[in-house]
Amino acid sequence: MKAWGVLWIVLGLSLWPKPGTASSLPMVMDSIIQALEELEQKVLVTEAGVTASAWILSAKNYSSHNSLHQHLLLKAPSQNTTEPDTHSLSPELQALISEVAQHDVRDGQEYGVVLAPDGSTVAVKPLLVGLEAGLQGRSVANLSSDCLDTCDTGAIWPGLKDAFTNVSSPDAGATLPNDKAKTPTTVDRLLAVTLAGDLGLTFLHRSQTWSPPGLGIEGCWDQLSAPRVFTLLDHKASRLTMAFLNGALDGALLGAHLSRIPKPHPPLSRLLREYYGAGVDGDPAFRSNFRRQNGVALTSAPTLAQQVWEALVLLQKLEPGHPRLQNMSQKQLAQVATFATKEFTEAFLGCPAIHPRCRWGAAPYRGHPTPLRLPLGLLYVHHTYVPAPPCTTFQSCAADMRSMQRFHQNVRGWADIGYSFVVGSDGYVYQGRGWHWVGAHTLGYNSRGFGVAFVGNYTGSLPSEAALNTVRDVLPSCAIRAGLLRPDYKLFGHRQLGKTDCPGNALFNLLRTWPHFTVVEN
Ligand SMILES: *[C@@H]1O[C@H](CO)[C@@H](O)[C@H](O)[C@H]1NC(C)=O
Ligand SMILES: *[C@@H]1O[C@H](CO)[C@@H](O)[C@H](O)[C@H]1NC(C)=O
Ligand SMILES: *[C@@H]1O[C@H](CO)[C@@H](O)[C@H](O)[C@H]1NC(C)=O
Ligand SMILES: *[C@@H]1O[C@H](CO)[C@@H](O)[C@H](O)[C@H]1NC(C)=O
Ligand SMILES: *[C@@H]1O[C@H](CO)[C@@H](O)[C@H](O)[C@H]1NC(C)=O
Ligand SMILES: *[C@@H]1O[C@H](CO)[C@@H](O)[C@H](O)[C@H]1NC(C)=O
Repeated sequence: MKAWGVLWIVLGLSLWPKPGTASSLPMVMDSIIQALEELEQKVLVTEAGVTASAWILSAKNYSSHNSLHQHLLLKAPSQNTTEPDTHSLSPELQALISEVAQHDVRDGQEYGVVLAPDGSTVAVKPLLVGLEAGLQGRSVANLSSDCLDTCDTGAIWPGLKDAFTNVSSPDAGATLPNDKAKTPTTVDRLLAVTLAGDLGLTFLHRSQTWSPPGLGIEGCWDQLSAPRVFTLLDHKASRLTMAFLNGALDGALLGAHLSRIPKPHPPLSRLLREYYGAGVDGDPAFRSNFRRQNGVALTSAPTLAQQVWEALVLLQKLEPGHPRLQNMSQKQLAQVATFATKEFTEAFLGCPAIHPRCRWGAAPYRGHPTPLRLPLGLLYVHHTYVPAPPCTTFQSCAADMRSMQRFHQNVRGWADIGYSFVVGSDGYVYQGRGWHWVGAHTLGYNSRGFGVAFVGNYTGSLPSEAALNTVRDVLPSCAIRAGLLRPDYKLFGHRQLGKTDCPGNALFNLLRTWPHFTVVEN
């Protein structure tokens, strides 16, 4: 109740500078953590971490916010909290808070996003919304009791249950409880405010044509040392950018964590520092590097589809005049929910996290690249050998990418780094020449397959299980789904096609046991 009280009292207070007042702080997660820390230490001494996220969320006029948040997150508090002293916050932090309190995509740029230590870009708003929902306790809202006279609770749409039997997540076997499958009844607050509402609304917008809304578009920072401006790689991106999906998923994961652990809650600054803290040491279930794997464990596709559906049904009640929701039947909303969840599950959760070239500071391609004729039928596995140590942080993997590119361009005289993709031990794949351009990795076979290299020397040891899983399962299945790789692709170790020990004895011996591994006939 206390958290809600403070949240409510700051609504409508014009505490923050006008939008447009640029902060001088770099748009990095550390700046956000610093702001939370100051809020926790100076402003909200008595409330500690409990209300810091709510404070930031209140930086902007809530009436412009989505009604799901208002309805599910900001439930009527008692209003006798005293007005806290905000003047102790530095103007830089106030300006930063004002900037990140909204997420927006406009004219090819994305606002309200920061660069995290793992190299991912994260939208702050859905992250904070998830934290706040978690602090308020994970709960379900009873949709029936919110129901207006006109609302139809009798609709039955059994299709929702069957739509996911083929989704490739470990949870896919989970079935919807029968009573839930029949009619929307309860909204999981945490999922609704982080992922479900936005997923549903974005796909609703496109449901006329069924064209994908550019889910998970990446972007480039103006600079990596002190980033300020984030430009999207596709100007037609929907609001469900990669940064938004990252932030929403982090919000859902951290919110679920907060709702599980006993009170008092740890300061949010400490929680975020641990979650985003550089590297992959510590609990993999609590690292931004592995958010997608953890997202698969957080919710099954049928559950998420149910929640997207229910969020849309609730929105329809909350905003009867909503142009996109008007006159949509519950069955139509269920179809949108099914499609949106399938895209999210397969194209985001089911794909590896790939850092685009600009993220690791790639030099430009020299000359004109040759396009591949897709889909390709071959996948070649390499190890880099040098660098020999596996890279486990964004900093070190990105530095390895730059040094390999320098070597390939300046010493070998190639146009670019040779590999199509490079896999770190930090939970990330780094884009080399990518899906569309012929590489220089497997002499004589470059135009027929993708070359994927593990960073490290795998003569006597193996890459991390996460990295192996990426190359064995996630990358190929994602590429097959996208029409880049043939479903019957053949997998080779580099040594099968050239005079080399690559990809190392230990790794090659493992490769022989993988699906799609193919023996070369002599
Ligand atoms: C509001 O004030 C009353 C009495 O002054 C107090 O008992 C109550 O705890 C306060 N509520 C909150 C949310 O602070
Ligand atoms: C919030 O915005 C609404 C309209 O969008 C406006 O009527 C209201 O005065 C604003 N409130 C504050 C505190 O700025
Ligand atoms: C939801 O509310 C309706 C009407 O108020 C009630 O009949 C129903 O039992 C409630 N369901 C749950 C799961 O609480
Ligand atoms: C799902 O899998 C079954 C067999 O397991 C197959 O017959 C069916 O075509 C698949 N559906 C889709 C949509 O891929
Ligand atoms: C919804 O239906 C009403 C009445 O049937 C109609 O007046 C209105 O134009 C419709 N709205 C949309 C967006 O189709
Ligand atoms: C690679 O590993 C093998 C076996 O562990 C070792 O003998 C070799 O020196 C290593 N090469 C490099 C470049 O580190």
